[in-house]
Amino acid sequence: MNIILLGPPGAGKGTQAKRLETGRGMIQLSTGDMLRAAVAAGTELGKQAKEVMDSGNLVSDDLMIGLISERLDQDDTKGGFILDGFPRTTAQAEALDVMLEQKGLELDYVIELRVDDAALVRRVVGRYTCAKCGQGYHDEFQKPKVEGVCDVCGSTEFKRRADDNAETVTSRLEAYHRQTAPIIPYYENDGKLKTVDGMAEIDEVTREIEAILG
Ligand code: AP5
Ligand code: MG
Repeated sequence: MNIILLGPPGAGKGTQAKRLETGRGMIQLSTGDMLRAAVAAGTELGKQAKEVMDSGNLVSDDLMIGLISERLDQDDTKGGFILDGFPRTTAQAEALDVMLEQKGLELDYVIELRVDDAALVRRVVGRYTCAKCGQGYHDEFQKPKVEGVCDVCGSTEFKRRADDNAETVTSRLEAYHRQTAPIIPYYENDGKLKTVDGMAEIDEVTREIEAILG
């Protein structure tokens, strides 16, 4: 099964993708994570992307399309993939269709996580992850069972994203409404779009997604 998780910053794309990885053996392809890895490694892509990401704007379509096309050629995507954060523009959605056809791949569902804008800033600003294994947490909504200790790997080090501040989130939200939301009708027209209430609790959102995937 190959799917897209679509939604604004803080909608829960990463949270739900990680759960599908664990539960179904699918692989999460997060363009945001790929870019952050490139920034951390100081590669040419990372140098080009850093400033754009910190301002809350979108990295160029050409770079992103090339990145995903290469990633889809790797063997670990064969058991099913979850696109998280791609496509984000009409040009990316059209390029994805072309590359899937060329690679002989099918998209099963596009799952839109719908969340009120007002809830998103609070979600994003409170988010942090384990510095060792990447498990996601939230100051209010998803605390570790033992304070300061990762549930998954026991690490006591955590980190926050450079773009997770109220100001950048506002720009990211604007970019979502201006450039990404217009691709929703594109997937509605081909019958692949399913909309889930992303305002529900994390477990409930997972149940709704599982019900769609069957
Ligand atoms: P990216 O990393 O994709 O960020 P984003 O789209 O802004 O989304 P987030 O990762 O912030 O949110 P999420 O939906 O994953 O939420 P999460 O599950 O963590 O992109 C970053 C940047 O890279 C972009 O701004 C752009 O510059 C660039 N970029 C990336 N892809 C690109 C592309 N294709 N083209 C061009 N540029 C690109 O949840 C958030 C928090 O809320 C967590 O703490 C979680 O615990 C909590 N939470 C989740 N679900 C719930 C719930 N149901 N109830 C309560 N809390 C919840
Ligand atoms: Mg994410």
